[in-house]
Amino acid sequence: MTHILITGAFGQLGRALSRLLSSQYLITNTGLNIPEGETGLILDITNLMLCREVINIVKPDVIINLASLTNVDACESNTELAFSVHVGGTKNLASSFSGPIIHLSTDYVFNGENGPYSENDTTDPINVYGLSKLASEKALLDGQNNNLVIRANVVYDYYVRTQASFLNWVVDSLNEGKEISVVNDQWNNPTWTDSLAVVIQRSIDRELFGIAHWGDGEWLNRFDFALKIANVFKLDKKLIKPISTDELGQVAPRPMKGGLKTEYIQKTLNLEPPPLEESLTAIKDRLES
Ligand SMILES: NC(=O)c1ccc[n+]([C@@H]2O[C@H](COP(=O)([O-])OP(=O)(O)OC[C@H]3O[C@@H](n4cnc5c(N)ncnc54)[C@H](OP(=O)(O)O)[C@@H]3O)[C@@H](O)[C@H]2O)c1
Repeated sequence: MTHILITGAFGQLGRALSRLLSSQYLITNTGLNIPEGETGLILDITNLMLCREVINIVKPDVIINLASLTNVDACESNTELAFSVHVGGTKNLASSFSGPIIHLSTDYVFNGENGPYSENDTTDPINVYGLSKLASEKALLDGQNNNLVIRANVVYDYYVRTQASFLNWVVDSLNEGKEISVVNDQWNNPTWTDSLAVVIQRSIDRELFGIAHWGDGEWLNRFDFALKIANVFKLDKKLIKPISTDELGQVAPRPMKGGLKTEYIQKTLNLEPPPLEESLTAIKDRLES
C-alpha cells in the first residue's frame, strides 16, 4: 500500500486530506505538535536532522507538504521565520527524500493586478508570505522533475484548530453577535478544503508534476463571501460591514484581484470546481450531523 507522509497535517487542509486519503493509502500525519486525541509524529520541517530521521523511520512513498505559516501579517513582521519555514523547511524535505513531494502554495505569488491567474502567468509577489512561498516553489522544483506545486487560494472549512480559515472567523464572530469589517475590494475564488483534497488525491494517482492551480467555482470579493456565509449559516448579515483595504490597513500589502484559473486541472484530472453555496451547505450539514 502506498505510504504518504503529511507535514502540517493538523491544520485545516491536513485534516480534510487525511480523512479522504486514509481509505486508500497508509497515512502518517506529522505536525509541530500533536493535538490531544490525534495520532502522529512531531515534525518541525525547519529541523533538518528531524526531517531525515522521520523520513528514514516512516519510509514514505510520497510526501505532502502542508506545513506553513499561513498568517500573512505575521509573515510580514517575521521575514526570517517565514523564509525559514517556507524555503528552509521545503529544502530540508527535498534534500532528505528522493520520492515525489506535493507542495502547497498560493495565489499570493501574483501581484493581484489582473487575476484570476493561470499557471503560465508571470509571478510578482508583493508581500513576505508570497515572496517566501514563491521561493519555496523554486526550492522544490529546481532540478526535480517528479515534484508538484499546487497553488490554492482562500482555503476554508469550519475547524477550531486553525487560524487560517476565513469561514471560522465569520461564523464565530457573527455567532457571538460581533460586528465585523470585511474588505470589499480583495477578490478570489475561495476553496473548500474537501475540494482541494480531491485534487491532491487525483494528483497522486496520476503522478502529476510541475505547477497546477485550483480554486472553487465562484470569484467574488471577501465582503460578498462573508454575506454568503451568513446566508447559508443563517447568521445576522447586518453585522457585516464593508471596508476598503486602504481603510482596514492590514500589516502586509494584499493582492487585490487574485484567485486562480482551473482549466488545466479540470482537463487533466477531469474535475469541476464546486459551487460556493453547495460547499458551504455541506460544511453546515456536517457540523449539524
Ligand atoms: N489557508 C489559506 O487560505 C491558504 C491559501 C492558499 C494556500 N494555502 C496553503 O495550504 C497549505 C495548508 O494550509 P492550511 O489552510 O491548512 O493552514 P493551517 O491550518 O494554518 O495549517 C498549516 C499547518 O502547518 C503547521 N506548521 C507551521 N510551521 C510548521 C513547521 N515549522 N513544521 C511543521 N508544521 C508547521 C501549523 O502548525 P501550528 O498551527 O501549530 O503553527 C499548521 O498545523 C499551506 O501550505 C498554505 O500555504 C492556504
